[in-house]
Amino acid sequence: MGNSKLRFGIIGTGAIAGMHAKAIEACEDSILTGVCSSSEERAKQASEKFSVPTYWEISKFLEELDLDVVCICTHSGNHLEPAIEVAKAGKHILLEKPIEVNLARADELINACEDAGVKLGVIFQNRLKPGFLQLKKAVREGYLGRLLMGTASINWYREPAYYSSSAWKGTISGDGGAALINQGVHTIDLLLDIMGDAKSVFGQVRTMVHEIEGEDLGVALVNFENGALGTITGGTSLYPGNPERLEIYGDKGNIILEAGEITTWNVDGLNPEEASNKIGGSGASDPMAIDFRLHLGQVQDMVDAIRNDHEPMVTGRDARRSLALILGIYQSSRENQLMELTL
Ligand SMILES: NC(=O)c1ccc[n+]([C@@H]2O[C@H](COP(=O)([O-])OP(=O)(O)OC[C@H]3O[C@@H](n4cnc5c(N)ncnc54)[C@H](O)[C@@H]3O)[C@@H](O)[C@H]2O)c1
Repeated sequence: MGNSKLRFGIIGTGAIAGMHAKAIEACEDSILTGVCSSSEERAKQASEKFSVPTYWEISKFLEELDLDVVCICTHSGNHLEPAIEVAKAGKHILLEKPIEVNLARADELINACEDAGVKLGVIFQNRLKPGFLQLKKAVREGYLGRLLMGTASINWYREPAYYSSSAWKGTISGDGGAALINQGVHTIDLLLDIMGDAKSVFGQVRTMVHEIEGEDLGVALVNFENGALGTITGGTSLYPGNPERLEIYGDKGNIILEAGEITTWNVDGLNPEEASNKIGGSGASDPMAIDFRLHLGQVQDMVDAIRNDHEPMVTGRDARRSLALILGIYQSSRENQLMELTL
């Protein structure tokens, strides 16, 4: 493949697509080659936003552009169909979170990529926040000892207009739910990455403030496979929204992150590196308060995975874990009982 730039395309030209375009352009090893919208009219709008060829039929977009990687930035309940087309065309995929809105669709997506022999990377950009990387290093190197408890709090707020101006947000078919699966999933992914798989969960979710199908408030108790306990609280109803928190407790110490930055570091024998603890932002009240450099890191990771033939940093199977836990919370709430999670 040499060292020529990998050719990236984007399907779905809404809000997050701009972040992908910025990241692809900023990466020295990739070039944005074209984008694909959902209609001719949307494509016209997109051609003003992205200065690359614009399509509205995925088949033509795939045929004409000789792409290496396609970023899938369609709404969460429509990741599967574009992904199947892209995988069948033999292109690698970098897909937005959550992987999909239910496990059957997530599995079909993962299988389509495996059958086609293409790589599937899923965007969970907060994995690259420096504070989280330091937390992960401390845990993996044993500085926290045996893990006892992990808590994730995503006590956020969204304006009513956030839901009323979108056809899919907060709907079951388009979003899979609301606060936990759309906003909370980032920190739930981090919690699982540190604590390991969840064995069972008891959850309660409610729709308290917004006029939506999905939940705008949720609380869960998690039993991890390793015997540790966890809690999750999340919402988009908790005005004005506080920065998300991840707290990890071991028998030798604990670390607390707020919006990905270290606020508590009770670790003997290892000091946090202060200088690198800066990149980030929090979507506590603003959905677009995201730092594009984190997406850039995942674009670079995808390039490296293709060039060196290894798995992307967040695989489809990895991304399936947060989806399974969140769907377990929803089911637990509906049935009012503890749910065992089978992987
Ligand atoms: N990583 C993050 O922090 C982050 C932030 C925001 C959104 N997201 C994720 O990105 C995805 C998109 O969110 P958004 O806020 O950009 O939504 P959006 O509604 O702004 O954009 C989605 C776009 O997809 C288009 N689309 C739908 N089906 C299509 C198809 N078959 N072909 C081409 N285009 C199609 C729609 O026309 C729309 O323009 C969601 O899965 C969301 O969870 C991730």
